[in-house]
Amino acid sequence: MTFLDLEDSVAPLEKVAARTKVAEAVRTLDWGERVLCVRVNAWDTEWTYGDVIEVVGTAGERLDEIMLPKVQNAAEVIAMDLLLTQVEKNVGLPVGHIGIEAQIETTRGLINVEEICAASPRLETIIFGPADFAASMEMPVLTGGVAIPEYPGDHFNYVFSKILMAGRANGLQVIDGPFLKVRELDALREFAQRTRVLGYDGKWALTPDQAGVMNEVYSPTQEQFDKACDILDAYRQATEGDLKGAVMFGDEMIDEASRKMAIKFVSRGERAGLKRSSD
Ligand code: GLV
Ligand code: MG
Repeated sequence: MTFLDLEDSVAPLEKVAARTKVAEAVRTLDWGERVLCVRVNAWDTEWTYGDVIEVVGTAGERLDEIMLPKVQNAAEVIAMDLLLTQVEKNVGLPVGHIGIEAQIETTRGLINVEEICAASPRLETIIFGPADFAASMEMPVLTGGVAIPEYPGDHFNYVFSKILMAGRANGLQVIDGPFLKVRELDALREFAQRTRVLGYDGKWALTPDQAGVMNEVYSPTQEQFDKACDILDAYRQATEGDLKGAVMFGDEMIDEASRKMAIKFVSRGERAGLKRSSD
């Protein structure tokens, strides 16, 4: 997935001109099969509706999603859904064509993350925004989304878990946000383990180098992929052939829950292009 930004990386005096450039880039560049998204400005600015009308109105056909930043409550997602419906109708796109990605990056947004994740069938992804979140919490840090050496543990563990649970309970993809020290790839690899291990689907990349690290971190290893395939085979044989439930797989007991865990590894591995070693 690639997103083009109209929000915090664009200076206020450039906001209106940026719409035309972004819409043109969506229409004219060769994006291949890539899922394409534009981040519009948040509802507490004067730009959101204009962003959507211009970008979806003139480039909506190739666009897959709108990213809504600093979402505070479900009403903000519903407002975006209604606006998208009107723009889609006006330009002859099927209603529902554009999905929504919502960023949780304020304290109010985190408190309301459960209702936000359930707010609209257009929602596809929930994203944590660590830089704005640190600002909203008034944390005494100057770089968001990196480890804090003085803190004994992971200062965002609660936040990561809360967003992940709300997202999964509503069938959404869950993504971690940016790592701002763009030259420190080893530190990024280490930091990204936090959300990978919890179960996040991925993390933003700000540079091609960061993208390489992210693809590596959030994809299963060959060994994990092979083991997951073996578990599925063993469990299928046991439940279809001998009509058993729980069975032994080497030294481990596996059951229906193991199948569910294995399926996730297999689908993530296949998306990353892995093939079973024994094939
Ligand atoms: C991303 O938008 C962030 O604020 O971290
Ligand atoms: Mg932000």
